Amino acid sequence: MSASPAPISGNIPAHVAIIMDGNGRWALKRGLPRLAGHKAGTENLRQIIKACVEFGVKYLTIYAFSTENWGRPQEEVLGLMRILEDVIDRELAELDSQGVQLRHLGQLNRLPAFLQEKVLHAIEATRHNSRLIINIAFNYGGRDEIVHAIQQIIREGIPASEVTPELVSQYLYTAGTPDPDLIIRTSGELRISNFLIWQTAYSEWYVTPTYWPDFDKTEFRKALEEFAQRDRRYGKVNSTEYEENHA
Ligand code: FPP
Repeated sequence: MSASPAPISGNIPAHVAIIMDGNGRWALKRGLPRLAGHKAGTENLRQIIKACVEFGVKYLTIYAFSTENWGRPQEEVLGLMRILEDVIDRELAELDSQGVQLRHLGQLNRLPAFLQEKVLHAIEATRHNSRLIINIAFNYGGRDEIVHAIQQIIREGIPASEVTPELVSQYLYTAGTPDPDLIIRTSGELRISNFLIWQTAYSEWYVTPTYWPDFDKTEFRKALEEFAQRDRRYGKVNSTEYEENHA
């Protein structure tokens, strides 16, 4: 019998957010259509969700469809809608039994009516769960989220003097969710791509050249281990180091 790997020592991030990039290149390398890459990426999600439960991550946010992705070929856009539908149809019962709560980030109203209903049903069916909260960012954009928040704040007549960072956070799609501790971006690109631009002010980044469909549990563990070594200072100084140098 093989021994189970040692637990990760150090801090486990409460909230991990992932830019699941590289599906298209993964497919191209194999001479497959881009959608085959998105399907492989969806399969891959299963093991990452399980690993989150195992390692004690409490929130997982996945960037599945951005407000800019509408500009992709229609076949790919429809394919991604179908993937979301399939994931809900095939995985909802299993996710529910694992104690996973599903939430949505973004504007639902631009999605086809049947898909809106499915998403709302999945949210309702899992709302009592709390082992792992998965935010699916679908038709999500960070700028759109901030504009939406400002519009709501103005509509509610909130005086300018009461607008604080804490208040703005309460008007984002992520209201009630702690900011991400760790952002993972696969496929090596060094950009934020309009993802959680407010919430990631002090998130730690982990970028790997691995394409998303190949980003397995071992790679995920490596990301968490690296996170555990990071010294998060939030713009301040490390107090022990300061005392040592100013004694
Ligand atoms: C970016 O790779 C990936 C996306 C735009 C879609 C991500 C979606 C999935 C992994 C499917 C899971 C979806 C749900 C709803 C659970 P890319 O296509 O930009 O890759 P490339 O940069 O190599 O072309």
